[in-house]
Amino acid sequence: MQVNGAAALVTGAGSGLGAATARSLLAAGARVVAMDLNGAGVAALDGAVPATGDVASEADVAAALDAACGLGPLRVVVNCAGIAPAARVVGRNGPHDLALFERTLRVNLLGTFNVLRLAAARMQALEATAPDGERGVIVNTASIAAEDGQVGQCAYAASKAGVIGLALPAARELARSGIRVVTIAPGLFETPMLAGLPEAAQAAIRALPPFPARLGKPEEFAAMVLAICANLLLNGTTLRLDSALRLPP
Ligand SMILES: NC(=O)c1ccc[n+]([C@@H]2O[C@H](COP(=O)([O-])OP(=O)(O)OC[C@H]3O[C@@H](n4cnc5c(N)ncnc54)[C@H](O)[C@@H]3O)[C@@H](O)[C@H]2O)c1
Repeated sequence: MQVNGAAALVTGAGSGLGAATARSLLAAGARVVAMDLNGAGVAALDGAVPATGDVASEADVAAALDAACGLGPLRVVVNCAGIAPAARVVGRNGPHDLALFERTLRVNLLGTFNVLRLAAARMQALEATAPDGERGVIVNTASIAAEDGQVGQCAYAASKAGVIGLALPAARELARSGIRVVTIAPGLFETPMLAGLPEAAQAAIRALPPFPARLGKPEEFAAMVLAICANLLLNGTTLRLDSALRLPP
């Protein structure tokens, strides 16, 4: 996919991986709508059109997509919005809060699918690009926790496993329209999501990646998004971006 001159929507663009992705797409010549619940975060992104909203809301996502379609042909959509609560199946205060489980699925899984379905409907109406008939690419963000989820990550891991499960059937369905669906499963990245953890947990986490023995930089995630855009053969799959890290229990 030729990013230069295309319109793009990035969700969760108010922070971390989404903000870096929006910046990299802008630098590559895309016109970007940056969507986030946190309006201040997206307002701070130079060059992007901000959209405040909830990825789980049909109206909010439709409005953000309409704004993107107003900038040019919507060829790139990147789902980065997400939440990562920690709670045990049975914790000190009793069983896992069911509302927290539901909210995690709602933002991470339903929100991703909501954006994917509404974006794909708009992409289908675009003219196909030469020579292969590609219309667009949708990148979703899972997590290595989907495969090696840790203690306290039932809700998060289940929501991200759902995101991984979407990639192949969605890619198969959208193949006839020339729309690709690819998922990135990040390892551990230096973002505010991680900075929210207790100091001891952060120190333990920083020691985990084998090589390179450091946390990923948000720009390295964004570089993967651009690589996915550029390589037409990446479709219906999940790419771990994790420095050979396998999370311990
Ligand atoms: N940072 C990591 O190490 C890491 C690892 C694996 C996966 N991920 C995933 O990558 C994605 C980005 O993570 P990050 O580290 O940049 O986190 P972050 O907390 O820095 O950014 C997430 C953004 O999503 C927004 N958001 C939350 N709920 C939303 C909603 N309902 N609608 C719209 N926006 C919403 C937040 O306001 C925030 O700006 C998430 O899906 C996360 O699960 C991150």
